[in-house]
Amino acid sequence: MSAFRFPPGFLFGAATSAYQVEGAWNEDGKGESIWDRLVHQHPDVINDQSSGDVACNSYHLYQEDIKILKDVGFHFYRFSLSWPRILPTGHANVVNEAGIHYYNNLINGLIANGIQPVVTMFHWDLPQPLQDLGGWTNPLLANYFEDYARVLFTNFGDRVKWWYTFNEPKSIALGYGMPLGFAPNIPTHGHGEYLVMHTVLLSHARAYRLYEREFKETQKGKMSIVALCNWIEPKTYSEEEEAAAERARQMHNGWILHPIYSTAGDYPPVMKEWVAKKSREKGYLRSRLPSFTKEEVEMVRGAWDFLAVNHYTTFFTYQGKEGVSIVPDCDVCMTQDDNYPVAASFWLQVVPWGLRKALNWIAKEYDSPPIMVAENGFSDHGGLNDTARIDFFINYLRELLKAIHDDHCHVIGYTVWSLMDNFEWISGYTDNFGLYHVDFNDPNRKRTAKKSARVFSEIIRSNEIPAEFLVNKSSL
Ligand code: NOJ
Repeated sequence: MSAFRFPPGFLFGAATSAYQVEGAWNEDGKGESIWDRLVHQHPDVINDQSSGDVACNSYHLYQEDIKILKDVGFHFYRFSLSWPRILPTGHANVVNEAGIHYYNNLINGLIANGIQPVVTMFHWDLPQPLQDLGGWTNPLLANYFEDYARVLFTNFGDRVKWWYTFNEPKSIALGYGMPLGFAPNIPTHGHGEYLVMHTVLLSHARAYRLYEREFKETQKGKMSIVALCNWIEPKTYSEEEEAAAERARQMHNGWILHPIYSTAGDYPPVMKEWVAKKSREKGYLRSRLPSFTKEEVEMVRGAWDFLAVNHYTTFFTYQGKEGVSIVPDCDVCMTQDDNYPVAASFWLQVVPWGLRKALNWIAKEYDSPPIMVAENGFSDHGGLNDTARIDFFINYLRELLKAIHDDHCHVIGYTVWSLMDNFEWISGYTDNFGLYHVDFNDPNRKRTAKKSARVFSEIIRSNEIPAEFLVNKSSL
């Protein structure tokens, strides 16, 4: 098979999330989420003081979204469900029928147009009443998440065959770590992140086991968590630096993946060791990393049908006392390498080969599971002739193909972030990731294809990277 061809049956899709595109933040019985609360009470934490109150107005314009997905030729659409739109109190005692109706329309519209729904249950917009009970630091949220999952499987499981429980647990933890501005913006660095991840992992497993017990046999769907898996490369090579980078991989990526996908289960041994050591050094009487019971290790281990990762960039590391990082206690500093261009988002350095390395690391660590790239994308400051985005996609896809053909990684699909420009969290509308431009000054939020949308049409239609896009890219 040509090095530029995708395997037969390879799936292409595009992604969005509820808070970033839906708008209608308080319509038809929707409850308040932690992002609604944050942008209304602290608009200053958002770069352009904007909000997702209207965003792309997909709540009213979802048919436009289906149309543009079809125009490109995507096989699936990855979108998320807003928990407070479905359960306004967060609890399953009150189901908002208008919310169920909206998602039924979207799901049915996609299927009618030959596009598979790929559904994220939680993409960061926690119902505020659950935050008032402690948010993800409260272990009992696992009960409420299981109840929410039951409502979803019951209402949508007859048609939804691909489920993601949580999008990027590490970014959820970020809302409790550094004072960066991510909701709920409760900086409890060094403690909060660990508690949050613990509840999220248990919640994931509870939803997975519920599905397995009561729904899988009839509904026949597949489930995964979505882990952010950027690559971590030592800045200068030595055995010590490689060991430190590997520790960082385990503490950033293995933190989420090891408990679910490794044969042993539980947190990575080096992470347990390191957090315990650093806790002792700081005078704590116990490790700040919570521990799983034996039963919990077993419940979480193996709670997967495939492995979904978001990948954007590579961080270059060196050993040293960290300033503030998403993962405390690692003693590895993350920097960028001046040789690579940076997108509009300051953290997004364009390093295509990092994708290949990340896929290989996952295959080796977790015994070659089927991998879905659930997000990959590039931000700029606008413009329809988005050649830098096109270069990004072509070069990352080439590395993905090397992972498939040369390294035999089992990659089943690829998802573009994002279908259209949208509310980019604390960057507001300043960083644009879309294949489609959205006119945020137009009440109709007109969507217009960028050049990259056309490139994807061609890739999907031919199931390969067409030769015309390969010119002069051999140096990358
Ligand atoms: C990952 C997140 O899932 C998504 O919500 C975000 O917009 C993109 N990364 C780009 O930052």
